Amino acid sequence: MIQLNYKNCLDEKVGEHGLTLKEIEGYKEKFVEIHKNLVEKIKNPSLMLGWAKLPYENFQVKEILKMTSEVKNKFDTLLVLGIGGSALGNIALQTALKDKFWNNLSKQQRKGYLKLYVFDNVDPDTAKSLLKEIDLKKTLINVISKAGDTAETLATFFIFYNELVKKVGQKKAKKHIIITTGTKTGFLRELVNKGYSKYDFVISENVGGRFSVLSPVGLVSASLTGINIRKLLLGAKIIADKYKVLETNVKPDDMLENEAFIFALINYLLYQKGKHICVMMPYSDRLYGFADWFRQLWAESLGKEKDNNGKTVNVGPTPIKALGVTDQHSQIQLYREGPYDKIIVFLSVEKFSCEIKIPKFKEEHYLCGHTLNELFKSEEKATIASLTQAKRPNLTITFPKIDEEHIGQFIYMLELTTAYAGELFNIDAFNQPGVVLGKNYTYALLGRKGYEKYLEELRLFLE
Ligand code: PA5
Repeated sequence: MIQLNYKNCLDEKVGEHGLTLKEIEGYKEKFVEIHKNLVEKIKNPSLMLGWAKLPYENFQVKEILKMTSEVKNKFDTLLVLGIGGSALGNIALQTALKDKFWNNLSKQQRKGYLKLYVFDNVDPDTAKSLLKEIDLKKTLINVISKAGDTAETLATFFIFYNELVKKVGQKKAKKHIIITTGTKTGFLRELVNKGYSKYDFVISENVGGRFSVLSPVGLVSASLTGINIRKLLLGAKIIADKYKVLETNVKPDDMLENEAFIFALINYLLYQKGKHICVMMPYSDRLYGFADWFRQLWAESLGKEKDNNGKTVNVGPTPIKALGVTDQHSQIQLYREGPYDKIIVFLSVEKFSCEIKIPKFKEEHYLCGHTLNELFKSEEKATIASLTQAKRPNLTITFPKIDEEHIGQFIYMLELTTAYAGELFNIDAFNQPGVVLGKNYTYALLGRKGYEKYLEELRLFLE
């Protein structure tokens, strides 16, 4: 299983910048209360904690697998149109579990599974490049938006749909369209009802965007690129069972075994000591997409103006991503010698998919005879040691290897951590009023009916 090591956050390692075991253990009773509250919320389907049950429900998995066998070998490419929680999980899964140059592999090498492009912006330059790159005749388009109205996603959908119709005609276009959206309202739901798509998948009302990677939002593109989605869900279930997410009956001593809670608690306690920045730094290119995914999960969930009592708190740790070893030559100087305002979370991999030897060279050199793996590991150890020596609290999540099951574990552990952190900070981790307001302002600027009232407010800030 994935493991959390937090010894470098303790005072014995980082002095006054760390925590005492007593401080941590002082939360045992609180843990029982928080866990109980959370489980009760999970059991209430009207609250936004539907993500917690996804590993048990296998929601729409059969339909996804059926569609995969139908379209595999027929289509060559999958284009995902979505943004935020409707895109980042797709990218992270793909980066972690498929070859770095997956899209360059032949159909045979891909075993008939699809190439994947995720367009999660509205940059015209990228749109132009993508239109040139993709053969729409062989492309499936999965447009993903829970609200079904998100401007960025709809705009790109209209552009690619228009081009698709030019290439294959109005009648056949439907066969190329997958719509993944909320159950009831929204423009995309209307399109489903009007028969625009051959396939459609549902995002449950109680699963928020950033918690949706284990729903059809992330699973459709994963399955179409040959990722074993049952194993992903199994990994998540292993963590859900381990931390008893459906059982209110936990004991105070269970806290020390619950790494999801410990991760949240350490971040919460260190935040009180001025560590307002949380850097996630994988020593693995394949896990870098997950640092991006975590950035959204942590930022949107914990960055809040009001607490649960309506008091203004303006709270929230700032998540940052860095990449080992690359950012040793860019960021580590700051992390080691700059302000004492950071916690570094290393993602470490025990076993890579291969071992590459650094060969002998004509001249003698200390590197020759070692492997890239040894170099990578040594740099990771050296960075951890140098930060700890400078009294910078850091923790490490270790993956025995990168595969579906461990990625599923990681996803679920961090989602659960985020929920616990929300309880500790006493804020609602499942809303995003700041994002919604930005969306509403954009609608107003583009003349969407019903949003005129925002124009006046907007003008005040734009003049
Ligand atoms: O986490 C969230 O709720 C957001 O980041 C959304 O995922 C993002 O705004 C996209 O929303 P939608 O899927 O409704 O288009």
